Amino acid sequence: MLSREENELLTRVEGDAPAGRMMCRYWFPALLAEELAPGAAVPVRMLGRELVARRGTDGAARVGAAPTREAGGLIWTYLGPADLEPPFPAFDWTALPREQLATFKFVERANYLQVVEGGLDSGHTLYLHRGFGDQKFSQEELARRAISSDLSPRFEAEDTAYGIRFAMIRTPTVDPERTKYVKITAFVFPSTCIFGRPVSSSSPTSVQIFVPIDDGHTMHYTVLFSVNGRPLDQATVRRELCVERGINLDQEYRPLAREENWWGQDRALMKRGDWTGIAGFPMQDVAVQESMGAIVDRTREHLGTTDIPIIRFRRRFIESIKRCERGEPPVGLDVPVPYERLRTEQRVIGIDEPWQQVGAFAGEFVPPEVRTG
Ligand SMILES: [Fe+2]
Repeated sequence: MLSREENELLTRVEGDAPAGRMMCRYWFPALLAEELAPGAAVPVRMLGRELVARRGTDGAARVGAAPTREAGGLIWTYLGPADLEPPFPAFDWTALPREQLATFKFVERANYLQVVEGGLDSGHTLYLHRGFGDQKFSQEELARRAISSDLSPRFEAEDTAYGIRFAMIRTPTVDPERTKYVKITAFVFPSTCIFGRPVSSSSPTSVQIFVPIDDGHTMHYTVLFSVNGRPLDQATVRRELCVERGINLDQEYRPLAREENWWGQDRALMKRGDWTGIAGFPMQDVAVQESMGAIVDRTREHLGTTDIPIIRFRRRFIESIKRCERGEPPVGLDVPVPYERLRTEQRVIGIDEPWQQVGAFAGEFVPPEVRTG
């Protein structure tokens, strides 16, 4: 539970709000690379600001007058003070050839913190996304279900140089007395969620980036990237996940599934065994995150043990805002972060082994006493 003041501090990004000022210190995606054809100009609203992205006929993309980079199928920009521009977050997937990436985005009518907390709530995947009704399970889903059917995950989380990292720990079906199934998620400040690499190497890894548009709206970017070098078919990915512009999304990337039509929930599909009756994982998330209202009143919430990553995130986010207010670098910008080496995994390990060994490397964890601020 938060105080009213803490909830305001964490959720407000427009104007001179401290969280908005802190987030301006980082690079963010401004649009999908494909949105900007040579010679085109596209309006962009992010962090409460109105901007215009342009691409010259010679291919150079710019967002307003701000520093701009094109990488990983996205156009990124930095809106903070020129003398404090941080290194570009050069994640491994930003260097992949375009055909090994699939990207999409959509607008959520919810504050960014609600969307972030959805990303941090790994447990919801076991329930919200469990039912496919008439659809077949993916190879990846079948592989994960074969490892464990445990629906009561435990969570552990810790601070890292780049933000936080946490483990969802479940009891495996085979050898449950001596092993545990660990899935790692890395949250890179201020808004990138890197989910555990898939069990099946033929499935892509998923990264989500949540960009505040204003206090009540968030642009939700997803990048899927190949881990075995095989190309991904972006059109198929978008069709299967129900995030096609002009079909599931309007021209401004707003989902047609929305509160007014109860997010397209199909009760007949639910009768046939579908958990939500809503087509596609992304729109299932949208329904849950938007139906709470644009900004949740967190003075009335009751957090449980599966909310450990959310509690850790909020603490670290407030720390980052306060550091910024004191004139110190916010989280992730005080020490060099080896973005290109950040890995997440999911696998079964010995029951007494530390979860930190899954997807870990020595530079990832920075003990609190080493951190500044
Ligand atoms: Fe989800």
